[in-house]
Amino acid sequence: MKKISIAIDGPASAGKSTVAKILAKQLNYIYLDTGAMYRAITLATLKNKIDPADESQVKTVVQASKIHFEQSDHGQLVFLNNQDVTEEIRLPEVTNLVSQIAAQEFVRQELVRQQQSFGAEGGIVMDGRDIGTAVLPNAEVKIFLVASVVERAERRYQENISKGIMTDFETLKKEIEERDYKDSTRVVSPLVQASDAVKIDTTGLTIEEVVREIKTVIDVKN
Ligand code: CDP
Ligand code: CDP
Repeated sequence: MKKISIAIDGPASAGKSTVAKILAKQLNYIYLDTGAMYRAITLATLKNKIDPADESQVKTVVQASKIHFEQSDHGQLVFLNNQDVTEEIRLPEVTNLVSQIAAQEFVRQELVRQQQSFGAEGGIVMDGRDIGTAVLPNAEVKIFLVASVVERAERRYQENISKGIMTDFETLKKEIEERDYKDSTRVVSPLVQASDAVKIDTTGLTIEEVVREIKTVIDVKN
């Protein structure tokens, strides 16, 4: 069967990376977590103590940052200039700043260019905010995952508990809403459903049910 490109977009904690990883494994495709790339640049900005509002300094950081991925027994690892930053890019200070960095035109231009070269051969599942609209506008399958904000905050809350991290539910919910707002209202490639994307509301659905629905879409389109 022909190797296609699958774009999965949607707001924070809609389940994009979880289902994208499962699909990539089942189809024997590459998985690309584009959010990890924006997070890595944000981490580099913090480490270099750059003013995140100073776009020319952030541009210098982007030019000096080499991001690559490696597969391990524990899943995909993210490297920034050959240093493993898989854990660090999930820190709250990164999460709280990433949407500001991701709104900058140069940052997007450069990361989208890299993402497109990863996806050039097809056989890829990519998740993010602008995959169906900007990164892979010709993807054969485009999925837009959504879920109520309460459910998405609950998922993150449970995920944190499983990692032994105690968080306040209302704070988590507010952070998700703020990030979605910033991502949806930015000027360059905002989070928006592509006109040819299939929307799946995952509220109340298990991961397996979401994967099954996406596979039905893949079968119909191919
Ligand atoms: O926390 P979550 O897994 O929902 O987010 P992520 O996929 O790691 O993405 C972190 C942030 O990167 C998003 O909130 C966006 O600001 C930005 N991002 C983006 O602008 N475009 C993408 N294709 C992917 C992520
Ligand atoms: O990548 P994104 O931010 O869209 O979400 P995620 O990190 O894949 O998923 C957030 C959490 O929701 C994870 O702990 C998943 O196990 C959980 N979850 C899900 O992804 N899908 C469901 N239908 C139910 C729960």
